[in-house]
Amino acid sequence: MQPLASRMAVMTGEGALAVNARARELESQGRSIIHLELGEPDFHPAPPVNDALKRALDEGKDRYCAVAGVPALRDAIARYLHDTRGLNVSPDQIVLAPGCKLALFLAMMALTDPGDEVLYPDPGFPGYSSITLGLGGVPVPFELSERNRFQPDPDEIAAKITPRTKILITNSPGNPTGTVYTDDTQRRLAELAVEHDLIILSDEIYARILYQGNFVSMMSYPGMEERTLILDGFSKSFAMTGWRLGYTVAPARIVPALAMLAINSYTCVAEFSQYAAIEALRDPGGATPRMVVEFDKRRQQFIRDLNRIPGFRCQAPEGAFYAWVHIGDTGMTAEELSRIMLEDAGVAAIPGAAFGPAGRDFIRFSFASSTANLHEAVERILRASAAWQSTAVVR
Ligand SMILES: Cc1ncc(COP(=O)(O)O)c(C=O)c1O
Repeated sequence: MQPLASRMAVMTGEGALAVNARARELESQGRSIIHLELGEPDFHPAPPVNDALKRALDEGKDRYCAVAGVPALRDAIARYLHDTRGLNVSPDQIVLAPGCKLALFLAMMALTDPGDEVLYPDPGFPGYSSITLGLGGVPVPFELSERNRFQPDPDEIAAKITPRTKILITNSPGNPTGTVYTDDTQRRLAELAVEHDLIILSDEIYARILYQGNFVSMMSYPGMEERTLILDGFSKSFAMTGWRLGYTVAPARIVPALAMLAINSYTCVAEFSQYAAIEALRDPGGATPRMVVEFDKRRQQFIRDLNRIPGFRCQAPEGAFYAWVHIGDTGMTAEELSRIMLEDAGVAAIPGAAFGPAGRDFIRFSFASSTANLHEAVERILRASAAWQSTAVVR
């Protein structure tokens, strides 16, 4: 029998999905599990968004439609990026995709030749290295270390640039650390990109989930308009994970390549959901800011409580909805600890190595869950912590 393509041996899955599968198995055996593993808001779109979807269906908007997205939505996204990020992009620079992840995949496919080096954050979203490998590229991690408050270190990145480096992936606010890159960091990364003729893939999927200050896109720095692709979507900021709606904002010269890949894969994004997305962007009821206020409450409670668990140490994230907890002082590995938490305590979270080798001593918890659930999760972990109390380093 013919073997699979060789890329299948180098691509990797996602730890979150594996933990979720085991958690569901335990639940089917009658166990109570608190799900803090998936990166999914526990909110749903506001009623006007669902109404807009139904209206679009009633109006027969269920056909093949424009490859890059319906003009009304591309106009709305351009306006939204202007209003929320101060960007001046043309609707013609926007290509819709079924999810931010596919937008990322196809942007990388459009740009990566075998042997091209791709700089990406470690820990980071697992797709960055997996997709690079699948395309024959060379993933080159740069570390987000606790010492540096999980900010990228431009000096480290500069030292890793070679004549084969083509892409620098940034992700602010970042998964899994919640770091918002400082203005100085972004400025220096932009300067490196100009100096070495790099393309920046700026994953801005968490741009609206920010606990202080205003979001600044990598595209706003000098020289960045012609070399930045923004990857974003509706999954996190509008609680629309299952709708599969994402988009790329690209320099005009790259847009035809993205459209070509869309033609060769998904043809277009579901027409009716695009009309509903326009309503989500309008957000007259302020659903997104209200969701962020609620996440902020949970963030404050959860980070405070996690730091009470012996051997756990966690900085408050500035964005996204993850607690990135250093667990090295428990004397256990993140894998052992995650297993005990899931199997004995009924709390599902992800060992940090799922986000890259630099995540080895960490565990990621999502706090997109009710304050009652988060409180109960900490109580359960505290009870289970007897298993590592004797080995924990006391500070
Ligand atoms: C950093 C990052 N980028 C992209 C995605 C993918 O988003 P989508 O669900 O729209 O494909 C995620 C989802 O977890 C993410 O955390």
